[in-house]
Amino acid sequence: MNNLRDLQQIAQAMVAPGKGILAADESTPTIGKRFDTISTESTEDSRRTYREMLFTADGVEDFISGVIMFDETLRQSSKDGIPFPKLLADKGIVPGIKVDLGAKDMPGFEGEKWTQGLTNLRERLAEYYELGARFAKWRAVITIGAGLPTRHCLEVNAQALAAYAALCQEAGIVPIVEPEVLMDADNCIKTCEKVTSEILSLTFREMHNYGVALEGIVLKPNMVICGKAHDNQSSVAEVAEATVRVLKRYVPSAVPGIAFLSGGQSSVDATKHLDAMNKLGGLPWNLTFSYGRALQADALVAWSGKDENIAAGQAAMMKRAKLNGAASKGEYSESMEA
Ligand code: 13P
Repeated sequence: MNNLRDLQQIAQAMVAPGKGILAADESTPTIGKRFDTISTESTEDSRRTYREMLFTADGVEDFISGVIMFDETLRQSSKDGIPFPKLLADKGIVPGIKVDLGAKDMPGFEGEKWTQGLTNLRERLAEYYELGARFAKWRAVITIGAGLPTRHCLEVNAQALAAYAALCQEAGIVPIVEPEVLMDADNCIKTCEKVTSEILSLTFREMHNYGVALEGIVLKPNMVICGKAHDNQSSVAEVAEATVRVLKRYVPSAVPGIAFLSGGQSSVDATKHLDAMNKLGGLPWNLTFSYGRALQADALVAWSGKDENIAAGQAAMMKRAKLNGAASKGEYSESMEA
């Protein structure tokens, strides 16, 4: 295995206090859907321009420790010709790459997904390392529904996450391990707590079986939260308490940090929840953000595909980055939104 100390240093940098990760790894179809909402055509160059806007915001390195990119973006350059991985690394931001090939319908398990991408992953990781990536991401998707998730779906996804993590560490790349329990259904927070507990427990069991060094990973879980379609939404305090309770039960303290996904929460809710957890204090790992939508939603609208709006787009992204940076230390207050 590669030097564990190197992996540990990278992982610690990714979850450094006051900073978090920008998830800018939307696949080409997904960024196309985002661009549709601002009536902007998705082309290789418009995607490049948008990502350059995010990566070159003044002071971005003060609050962003790492950026997750999609394959296309990792190979792109700024308009001045600087490859994005180098542009980020020069600012002290760790370049990362999404390596899973998407969550596809699982045969024989209607309504459930299994994540693809283990075939040739060793060779792909070697190339990504050469291109400058020092961490990777693999997302497993767990769906709550009538009779779902099944035990087999949880096991298959946990095994793939662990095999991916072992391959990353072999390549000198820190794995972001992302088991996402979706928040789209009408379930209560208790159901989310139960399912999140199960997938975390299985994922850490499988990582143990594969010999994954927990000091050299970053966990990217969902928060424990009501489904969006549920009538009675939980309070910020309830989400924070339930999430921390589950993490304390299932995530060993050897893990340096936990960086949440936002999963469809509003930008402000995602910040409030992270802050409330950090205000609880006494946590064995750093708790921070690895948000996609909750960092980018306002920036996307402010930009709206127009060059003259780039400064406004950068300001909108920086506002969320700064407030989430404060939340990662439990130092956010709602008055800072003004
Ligand atoms: P969201 O924060 O939009 O959920 O995206 C994070 C992510 O990387 C999902 O894989």
